Amino acid sequence: MDCDSAGYAALKSIAQSRKSCRTFSQKPLDAEIVQKVIDVAMLSPYASGRKNWTVRTVRDCETIVSAAGLVQAHCKILSAGVREDMRDSFKSYAENFVAFKTAPVLLLTEFRVMPALSLMLAGNQEIARWERENFIKSISCVSMLILLAAESLNLGACCMTGPLLAHDGLARLFKVKESREIGALIALGYKEQEKDNG
Ligand SMILES: Cc1cc2nc3c(=O)[nH]c(=O)nc-3n(C[C@H](O)[C@H](O)[C@H](O)COP(=O)(O)O)c2cc1C
Repeated sequence: MDCDSAGYAALKSIAQSRKSCRTFSQKPLDAEIVQKVIDVAMLSPYASGRKNWTVRTVRDCETIVSAAGLVQAHCKILSAGVREDMRDSFKSYAENFVAFKTAPVLLLTEFRVMPALSLMLAGNQEIARWERENFIKSISCVSMLILLAAESLNLGACCMTGPLLAHDGLARLFKVKESREIGALIALGYKEQEKDNG
């Protein structure tokens, strides 16, 4: 059977045009288009035959702005512990951790560490680490599919783990179940230039 070169060309073009988007138009995103992105994400592969992750949508802009405030406040605390001569660099680096603040939608990829091998080999730290890393690798595949699906719909997106420096505060704000962790925050919306096109 021949390779499907049309499929490859389409995928390559999407991968090539995808760039992290950090400035969003305020045009709201329909639930339907967000669902299209999630539908693709849900097809992601997963380690150990266990689909222990989910994607949640946050579209309440007050919550999104509060999340940015929370991350900023946490970075301010961290900054006090940064070497004085590096504080300015830290400050400008940390600005990227709140790039989601103008996004109309945040997708939260969440995962749960479900011990299996580490139960069988109780106390083996190497196995426990391997198991946890597997779940993080699985959730990263989910994020990648979200980014490609977003680009295929001409949406802007940015996968962000910087905000997770304030993981516990964000988990409380987003009401993430105790057994779960946030893998990434993915800002989603129309790219800013869309506004100019009406
Ligand atoms: C795991 C991961 C975490 C990231 N975290 C952030 C982040 O916290 N803030 C941000 O602005 N960009 C973040 N990015 C986006 C990267 O900065 C971006 O992908 C990289 O600079 C390459 O640029 P491009 O996506 O436009 O090709 C992250 C990307 C990945 C894969």
